[in-house]
Amino acid sequence: AAAGSGARAGHENWSSRSAFILAAVGSAVGLGNMWRFPAEAGENGGGAFVLFYIFCVLLIGLPVLLSEVLIGRHGQANAPESVRRLARDSKASEGWSVLASMGVFAAFLILSFYCVVGGWVVYYIGVFASDLFQTGLSGGAFQGRDPEEIKALMPGLFADGTLMAGLNLGFLGVTMFFVARGVSSGIEWVAVYLMPLFFVLFLAITIYGAFTGNFAEAVAYLFTFDFSKLTGEVMLAAVGQAFFSLSLGVAGMMTYGAYANRDTNLGETSGIIAGADTAVALLAGLAIFPIVFAAGLSTNAGPGLMFESLPIAFQQMPFGSAIGLAFFVMIFFAALTSSVSLLEAPTAYVFEKFKLARPVATIIVGAGAAVLGVLSALSFNDLAEFYPLGFIPLFAETNFFDTLDGVTAKLFMPIGAILTCIFVGWIADARLIDSENGLDGALHKLWRALVRFVCPIVLAVILFVGLTS
Ligand code: PFF
Repeated sequence: AAAGSGARAGHENWSSRSAFILAAVGSAVGLGNMWRFPAEAGENGGGAFVLFYIFCVLLIGLPVLLSEVLIGRHGQANAPESVRRLARDSKASEGWSVLASMGVFAAFLILSFYCVVGGWVVYYIGVFASDLFQTGLSGGAFQGRDPEEIKALMPGLFADGTLMAGLNLGFLGVTMFFVARGVSSGIEWVAVYLMPLFFVLFLAITIYGAFTGNFAEAVAYLFTFDFSKLTGEVMLAAVGQAFFSLSLGVAGMMTYGAYANRDTNLGETSGIIAGADTAVALLAGLAIFPIVFAAGLSTNAGPGLMFESLPIAFQQMPFGSAIGLAFFVMIFFAALTSSVSLLEAPTAYVFEKFKLARPVATIIVGAGAAVLGVLSALSFNDLAEFYPLGFIPLFAETNFFDTLDGVTAKLFMPIGAILTCIFVGWIADARLIDSENGLDGALHKLWRALVRFVCPIVLAVILFVGLTS
């Protein structure tokens, strides 16, 4: 009797459709767009990666996104319980819930290192705020300081394990505060106030960048498709990035779907989420690569790319310290609305499963993430030589931070998505699915074909090729 029963006792819902959209876009748009996308594109050859990424978003990400929010809305519960309910209503094995349990665990892992990067953002907010305070509004940032000194900011932070661990805990603490407050007064509050602010700042800064920076080289780099560069590893990286950016394969969108009302059109909403997310990623790439080229930095600088390149650009820009400050505040907002969703997925599971109060569950999950987060922070300095999965070629010489990032994006997310597609496309009762998805006619047929055939097959092939090449 779960079908169509709407909200259950003790279960919170979004207060409106736009609150749901803002929260889901808030989850999708984050460090994945601003920090991880340019770094991944740079490390994987630029154009080939980007075009394959767009292909993945449209053909795989979007259908999986709809499948996930649909499972959540049908179940109106934490992710594993939602899968269990849909399985039960379809007279299928409740063992399918394992796909969401894996996802909840992966969300927890991502949360731990995501807050480390959130901590870097906080550090740069501090750097620009104090610079603005010292040098005032006019002129570039860091006036009178040697460019080498600016370049040394990021290596300086990376070398300081204690500072990084402390910033990480601070960012995690803010995330916990909002999740502990609950769906409508915490999670929704962050999304409804911070996402619009994010978009205003993002547009202002991109337009400003378009007039001051040099777009041409960046456009050529990001959109020149060189087929020979499209290796199995690049494809796996692109799929992983598409999932990471859309918050897929890790129960995050199932959890948010569970707070959606019956009258929300999920097909349309999924399109809005994916469209906004992809637009922000591409614009972020177009904002960051001109700076990278102009400053003569290497494109494959990895996780440090954004943090290294931007301060250099802001030194030369008029109003540099103010713009730099606005930029990192904007990234902070985007990151927080994502980390909140990463924490919500495991927290909802823990408090519903063990019948705990929400704040207690938040503290339990947060404490676990704090421990892993400190290890990630130290993997840039004291634990730099610690390669937890070094015996696997894909993760050889990969530190703790990069291992967590790689394992979640390249294994958990694609595997979770394959299982989700099989479950929604083949196992669950088609009538229940059809009543949830908000699609009709040709679009509905297309979506079903993608979920049943294209997504699982393409994902399995990419996973196989990426892992064995
Ligand atoms: N999509 C977020 C980003 O691009 O920064 C990261 C993320 C959030 C991944 C929530 C997974 C998730 F469940």
